Amino acid sequence: VTGRVFLVGAGPGAPDLLTLRAARLLAGADIVFHDALVHPDTLALADRAEKVAVGKRCGRHSTAQAFINKRLVDAARKHTVVVRLKGGDPTLFGRAQEEIDALRAAGIPFEVVPGVTAALAAAAELGVSLTRRGVSRNVAFATPRVGDGEAASDWVAAIAAADIGAIYMGVGEAAAIADALLARGKRPSLPVVAVENASLPGARRWTTTLGELTRLADEAFAGPVVLLLGEALAAAPADSDRVRTAFLETAEAHLLRAAV
Ligand SMILES: C[S@@+](CC[C@H](N)C(=O)[O-])C[C@H]1O[C@@H](n2cnc3c(N)ncnc32)[C@H](O)[C@@H]1O
Repeated sequence: VTGRVFLVGAGPGAPDLLTLRAARLLAGADIVFHDALVHPDTLALADRAEKVAVGKRCGRHSTAQAFINKRLVDAARKHTVVVRLKGGDPTLFGRAQEEIDALRAAGIPFEVVPGVTAALAAAAELGVSLTRRGVSRNVAFATPRVGDGEAASDWVAAIAAADIGAIYMGVGEAAAIADALLARGKRPSLPVVAVENASLPGARRWTTTLGELTRLADEAFAGPVVLLLGEALAAAPADSDRVRTAFLETAEAHLLRAAV
């Protein structure tokens, strides 16, 4: 058999932010290779699949990318439906292109299924619009993190120029981010919000400014954090003021499974 590999976005964490297409693919998958941050209820949708953790978590042990690429190719030669489940959207900071290149080189058909990326879940968490008439007309996604053998991109210029900057994998480098952006002329009072565990019940936020961002280094974060910067964030209240709808309970997850 030559199966098909689906690079599927699992969304930011809450299982009911998964797309229906992703849910259907999980229900029909023979094997699922998943990241560490994927919610157990999401994985449970793949009830007949073999599940393989190829966990990638900042600062923790992660499976080498070349090995993951090879496992995807091998799996497609054995199974019909292979799902590579990635947090958020697969095409943002998920090393999807390396997997796509390996699949193309091996002649394995693949499809990408988009997911809700962390920055969008964070904006939803805050109840603010990323674009706003007269204030914000563009959004830049960036990370200061540079992988092995990778050239540094000028993420500072991109974020400095953007009306809204969304910084992934940056919380550990908050001081360096603040210094770099202040040196590019961003003002110290620029609003910044750090959102941890966006979309999940344990979501937390820190509303601060670029000048005070260094203080984030003193905070203990247990979950993933995305930083949003920009004038439009001035509208974000310091505390959560939105009504949170509890995400799918297990019983409802069964209903979803029946629906797909
Ligand atoms: C390896 S990147 C993967 C990003 C993912 N592909 C996406 O589209 O969201 C992991 C980073 O995404 C951000 N992130 C992922 N899930 C998050 C969440 N629920 N809340 C806040 N940040 C999150 C954090 O910056 C984390 O360090």
